[in-house]
Amino acid sequence: MSSLGLTPHSFLPGALRGTIRVPGDKSVSHRALILGAAAPQPLLVRNLNPGRDVRATMEALIALGVRVEGNDGAVTVGPARLREPMGTLDCMNSGSTARMMLGLCAGADLRAGFDGDESLRRRPMEPVAAQLRAFGAKIETTDGKLPLRIEGTPQIETRHFILLTPSAQVKSALLLAALFAGTAIDITGDRGSRDHTERMLKYLGADVAWDGTAVALRTGLTNARPIDVCGDFSAASFFIVAATVAPGSELTIESVGVNPTRTGLLDALLQMGAHIELRNQRNVSGEPVADLFVRHAALRGITVGSDVALRAIDEIPVLAVAAAFALGETKITGVKELRTKESDRVAAIERLLRAVEISVEVAPNGVAIAGARPRGNGAVIDTHDDHRIAMAAATLAAGAGPLQIDSDASIDVSFPAFLETLSGVQRA
Ligand code: S3P
Repeated sequence: MSSLGLTPHSFLPGALRGTIRVPGDKSVSHRALILGAAAPQPLLVRNLNPGRDVRATMEALIALGVRVEGNDGAVTVGPARLREPMGTLDCMNSGSTARMMLGLCAGADLRAGFDGDESLRRRPMEPVAAQLRAFGAKIETTDGKLPLRIEGTPQIETRHFILLTPSAQVKSALLLAALFAGTAIDITGDRGSRDHTERMLKYLGADVAWDGTAVALRTGLTNARPIDVCGDFSAASFFIVAATVAPGSELTIESVGVNPTRTGLLDALLQMGAHIELRNQRNVSGEPVADLFVRHAALRGITVGSDVALRAIDEIPVLAVAAAFALGETKITGVKELRTKESDRVAAIERLLRAVEISVEVAPNGVAIAGARPRGNGAVIDTHDDHRIAMAAATLAAGAGPLQIDSDASIDVSFPAFLETLSGVQRA
């Protein structure tokens, strides 16, 4: 369902040429703000993601008594004297805000109400609630969803957890609960989900060890080194695929986070025959970063396993776009979780690709895409207010021909300057 004030937008085909930057990583930005509330001194965070989701986390922290000063580009967080909020915490469209702030409230022994927009109210909160209840918190949901109420706990009941869903948000909620409670925690059962929380804990001096399947957090933060947030790989993914599928493209995307727990899309595209070079690889505030050079290339279909899909969890729609241009069939497994993202992204993949006459077969945990020559003919794509579907439609149009989206309002959840960035490098 689309919001009021629809602003339709048309996307055109055309090569992408030049050099761009993408906004600061959304996942890293949420974590930097929340860890700032646990840091021993005020924490400076630069290049914070300017989207609405990160603003939701910032406002929730402020409502809990955390000082956040500065503008979106660079903020100082803390010191925090945490207190119960006056009203309900509005997580807007942001699943990360809801789940991670629940972890903070559980550990910091705070009482709070949580709510979000229509789309967030449809997303499951029971997986995180169940594990935080085992930690000791009391949580009452509305049929497993928002709105909900939490009562944090002064009494920790469990310090050993098996992650019940392969979710970095749930894992992070547990780590934050332990951090804010000042206790050690062991988590097993991870399957290689993104490790930004673990990396940032370590960067800020915590004693933490992890190997992709288990995490052991032993002590809290000991220093408040400034954090420079790397460019968002998920934001870059639309440009990586657009430059790959639009003939004549040659694009450099500077300073992009290339944490291997996030770059399943790169592995899949390289296997499909894409031309992507990682240049000037370096480490920035505990995260691997590179400049990405992408040139148009012909693609072939492949099979993408669930381990790669987990490392590309937010990039499956744009990977499906790439598959539409590939010679032969691409099968992607491990996509069940996509049904409960900002929209049902499996259904969105079907809508997107059928609009350009590409057939998609959907199985309970996978999709198969028969690549061919997708043809954009001006069809209007219903984005269901999902930012990643809106940007995937732009990517598809870059190589396939004109397409429209019903509304571009969702894009500023993660990438407010997306349309300008695209038109700056695209030659129709
Ligand atoms: C995120 C984890 C993923 C991802 C989301 C951001 C994070 O969700 O889809 O966009 O920052 O930890 P899950 O943890 O639900 O898989």
